[in-house]
Amino acid sequence: MSEQVTINVINGFYIVAAVLFILGIKFLGSPRTARKGNALSALAMLIAISATLISKEIIEFEWIILGVAIGSVIGIVLARTVQMTAMPQMVAIFNGFGGGGSALVAAAEFIRINDLVSVGELASVPKDVAAIAIFSTVLGALTLTGSLIAFGKLQGLVTTRPVLMPARNIINALLGIAIVAISVYLVFEPNNPELYALVGILAALFGILLVMPIGGADMPVVISLLNSYSGIAAAATGFVLENTILIVAGAVVGASGLILTRIMTKAMNRSLSNVMLGGFGAEGSSSTGGPAAGERPYRSVTAEDTAMILGYSQSVIFVPGYGLAVAQAQHAVKELAGLLQERGISVKYAIHPVAGRMPGHMNVLLAEADVPYDQLMDLDQSNPEFERTDVAVVIGANDVINPAARTDPESPIYGMPILNVDSARQVVVLKRSMAVGFSGIDNDLFYLDNTSMYFGDAKKSVQDLVGELRQLD
Ligand code: TAP
Repeated sequence: MSEQVTINVINGFYIVAAVLFILGIKFLGSPRTARKGNALSALAMLIAISATLISKEIIEFEWIILGVAIGSVIGIVLARTVQMTAMPQMVAIFNGFGGGGSALVAAAEFIRINDLVSVGELASVPKDVAAIAIFSTVLGALTLTGSLIAFGKLQGLVTTRPVLMPARNIINALLGIAIVAISVYLVFEPNNPELYALVGILAALFGILLVMPIGGADMPVVISLLNSYSGIAAAATGFVLENTILIVAGAVVGASGLILTRIMTKAMNRSLSNVMLGGFGAEGSSSTGGPAAGERPYRSVTAEDTAMILGYSQSVIFVPGYGLAVAQAQHAVKELAGLLQERGISVKYAIHPVAGRMPGHMNVLLAEADVPYDQLMDLDQSNPEFERTDVAVVIGANDVINPAARTDPESPIYGMPILNVDSARQVVVLKRSMAVGFSGIDNDLFYLDNTSMYFGDAKKSVQDLVGELRQLD
């Protein structure tokens, strides 16, 4: 094949891969089609890599094959062993490696072009190439270390509390200015490997300093943002290498990461700057360390009472939250739902976009218990349903059902879209105590006339309910 034909063939495969990437992302938008989306994206990646390997620029394959073999083994082992709940850490590590990879490839290309200049094959390093390579190295290095800290926080290797260094914003600003200044200098004086290494090291330090002040529970937002950065770094490296598919894939990752970040911050009613400046959760705002709530009168019920309420209703909506994940109550809930359906009661699940601690947390747990997708409702579908529903059963949720988000302008969650469970005829809340949730604030819902508190670990409580319901005629 002539060189031009080879390039055309490669570009043809790249177009197929790009279309599959975009379709893959589209299918990932719904739990029903997510597996197909994943498979399509993996196929696209296989096509993209295979097409790249026929490039005439590749003269030997030994190192590539070794890399693919090692990477595949690590990937297969991780995919088979990592628990669903440890997914955010795994995504963090993947982002970090993606960013680190982009930084190294861009640096290697920068060095190669500089070498061409030294041996006289090229007059000078093109300024646009130098600028993009430096940008990719800086963003990639920052993504690598930021993601490693995020991984460490979620894995419990680094403190999950925000680490608030004095004058951190000033230090970060000075570091940012130094990185920009050195980068600009390098664009005009590219033959300076020590400075190139220095800017990479400073960016790596910047990544650490950016993520350390952020609390563990804000990590999903940070990881999503770092995911976007890793995509942008890859796209920049694609420009340096003039590789179309790297630009397309990087842009898709960059854009989807940004969209997910936006969805999460909006659903948490926080601005991105509020998350990134850190400090949220620094003082007792978790459900374990929060202030004592529950000083007003509330009604508490037993498993037997709750079985009566549920057993003689016509429609029930389950509202899962972080406590369902902690208790691993999903299988018990599925069993309870089955019993209710056998009694002719309509059962649905209302899923808040930030219920739990990671995107899609509730969907993943309920899918694990084989809850049918057509019983799941998102926020917009759920809210009109509550008014027509006999009982809303809240299982370990708190912030995502707090009416203060609608009614109390002073509340830190004011404006956050919530599930309006209080408009159901009756509400039963399953949790262990009157303790607060992630935001650290009390919940007026617990004291309403139509609310009953059913205390206990969610799994045990649901299992007891199943037992009581079986005895109901
Ligand atoms: P939370 O507001 O955190 O409330 C969870 C409740 O579960 C707690 O009040 C706790 O009360 C209860 N609980 C804990 N363990 C339990 C167990 N074993 N059995 C029964 N109940 C248990 O959860 P949510 O309503 O799902 O809201 C999520 C919060 O996390 C939101 O504020 C959201 O902004 C934030 N957040 C979400 C994400 C994503 S992407 N999902 C990321 C970061 C932060 P007891 O201690 O009394 O049992």
